[in-house]
Amino acid sequence: MVEIDSLLHPGYHHPVQRPWQAERVLTKGSLMYPIFITDEKDALIPIQSMPNQYRIGVNRLEEFIAPLVAKGLQAVMLFGVPNEFVKDAFGTAADDPEGPVIQAIRVLKAKFPSLLVSCDVCLCEYTSHGHCGHLNPDNTIDNAASVRRLTEVAVSYAKAGADNVAPSDMMDGRMRAIKQGLIDAGLSHRVSLMAYSAKYASALYGPFRDAACSGAQFGDRSAYQLPPASRGLGRRAIERDVREGADIIMVKPATFYLDIIRDAKEQAPNHPIAAYQVSGEYAMLHHAAAAGVFDLKTAVLECMTSLQRAGCSLILTYFTPELLEWLD
Ligand code: PBG
Ligand code: ZN
Repeated sequence: MVEIDSLLHPGYHHPVQRPWQAERVLTKGSLMYPIFITDEKDALIPIQSMPNQYRIGVNRLEEFIAPLVAKGLQAVMLFGVPNEFVKDAFGTAADDPEGPVIQAIRVLKAKFPSLLVSCDVCLCEYTSHGHCGHLNPDNTIDNAASVRRLTEVAVSYAKAGADNVAPSDMMDGRMRAIKQGLIDAGLSHRVSLMAYSAKYASALYGPFRDAACSGAQFGDRSAYQLPPASRGLGRRAIERDVREGADIIMVKPATFYLDIIRDAKEQAPNHPIAAYQVSGEYAMLHHAAAAGVFDLKTAVLECMTSLQRAGCSLILTYFTPELLEWLD
């Protein structure tokens, strides 16, 4: 005998009823596609560690993006991968007007005016030591100098036309500094600020560091990225970045940090919450599907659902091209 208060099946046995159980529905507009821009202008180079992803030269960008925009792509995030530019201790190349990111912003805004262009802001792709900020002589982070340089870079991207800037360095106080920089430059009305608030020191960034040639030459990033076991630091970082003027709060990685996404939604209920499904999550799903563990589409869609259920409304994912197909 099934008791009345045991009954759940009737609420979802009919297929039409199943989506009614979701708080958020995945749409093409919920996606942001992270792409890698090389300074080899004519190149389109497959990335070994990330199946189906490329380093794209500025001269190949239009042909690469046009079919995706035609399928409904609404937002990209740019990562610069300097090859010909020299890396130095200060990451000078990050906002060189001839560098990959600024060149790519100009092309995208000219060719695809309604595409939202977000720029990851960091120094690790451009520093000789591969760290995300400036270093003191003893190789600890010089936070104040790092924040000053990151602000310059963010404002340069904004001036070039970026719609959103997203600092991924995890320096203390960078949200306030960058927001102030945007205000001082007269750009705060048209450029939003996305905080990589809860960015954890993760094994899941491995394929990206290969893709962006941004691995640290010595040490690791544990002095600035959060310890995976700490929910408290994630919560404090979210709270701080809201206070310092972030417009969007991001959690990264995504799948291993669903509880943090939920924390972000509860702590910042009036802000959009973003989840970044990072390179290692992408590679894992690909390789598992290739090994016959599951069907790729089924697993990716379930993963997207889980991120939304945790509380995010924006998802950064390298599966964006596939999802644009699957959501038709
Ligand atoms: C650089 C940066 C990283 C990622 C985004 N920005 C790597 C890192 O912190 O080492 C990771 C993205 C991914 O793995 O897909 N600060
Ligand atoms: Zn970095």
